[in-house]
Amino acid sequence: MHTIVAKSQLSPNVTRLDVEARRISEIRHPGQFVIVRRGDGAERIPLTIADADPEKGTIALVIQAVGKSTRELVALEPGDFIKDISGPLGHPTEMITSGRAMCVGGGVGTAVVHPMAQGLQRLGVEVISVIGGRSKEWVIFEEELGKLGKVVVCTDDGSYGRKGFVTDAAREILDAGGVDVVYAVGPVPMMRAIANLTRPYGVHTIVSLNPVMVDGTGMCGGCRVDVGGATRFACVDGPEFDGHLVDFDLLADRLGTYREFEEKAVHACDAGNCRIGLEHGQKPTSHTP
Ligand code: NAD
Ligand code: FES
Repeated sequence: MHTIVAKSQLSPNVTRLDVEARRISEIRHPGQFVIVRRGDGAERIPLTIADADPEKGTIALVIQAVGKSTRELVALEPGDFIKDISGPLGHPTEMITSGRAMCVGGGVGTAVVHPMAQGLQRLGVEVISVIGGRSKEWVIFEEELGKLGKVVVCTDDGSYGRKGFVTDAAREILDAGGVDVVYAVGPVPMMRAIANLTRPYGVHTIVSLNPVMVDGTGMCGGCRVDVGGATRFACVDGPEFDGHLVDFDLLADRLGTYREFEEKAVHACDAGNCRIGLEHGQKPTSHTP
């Protein structure tokens, strides 16, 4: 059992839960993730470890409430608990140890970029972060990334920072030169756009993929992706890969496979039928906050 010790709303549909998970907080590395199961019968949800505090024995999970299970998860409150947290899973981020790294985060993907930037900065790498959101209220982790280096904030509507996509700011930084590696995490179109942008500059580009996952141990094949013409499982071979080799079309196609089922589940939940897998002490979640 993992008790939720703190909860904060980062953007209109993104919530941070700080959860007790001592062992994971002590041994995790940037880029690794956990699989969370809220209670018996609940769906297994892969979530990046956005931050960790080994002294308090807590990890930070950042959740975008898009489907039934994520909506149930963000409805939990401090004092409630999550039944299972498996991890850390996946390979740690491939880090450079000197030079300059550009970390690009789109929307909720910025939470995934944060531990990468932390790890790079600790190794002495100069970090410049480019983060984007639809508008001001969708920008997350600006303050945390600001402690690690320069941050360029972009909003689609220009309500905060510079107007435009993260790719616009990233292009200017690449043009100025001196970037040794790019780390990019966000929606698939964004990661594809960043990979296409950096290719002609010859700058190594690492992306973190988020395909559908089930077991997280390489057994089910649910997280299959194509990288450089070879099949890879994001849970055990990734989740980070060379962005110049990823088949983003296949990834986007596979991510859409269960959309219809998810929409039905959300409608059922809205109608008050969300009571699966609840443990003693947890609240039924027939609506989202
Ligand atoms: P969003 O759609 O609001 O986009 C966030 C930012 O990404 C935009 O402000 C823009 O700067 C950039 N962006 C979006 N589309 C772009 C394009 N075509 N070209 C260039 N830049 C673009 O993002 P969101 O709603 O926060 O993210 C939702 C998506 O992110 C979901 O599909 C989710 O599955 C995915 N996601 C991915 C990961 C991962 O590990 N890769 C982690 C969490 C979420
Ligand atoms: Fe089953 Fe990766 S989640 S193989």
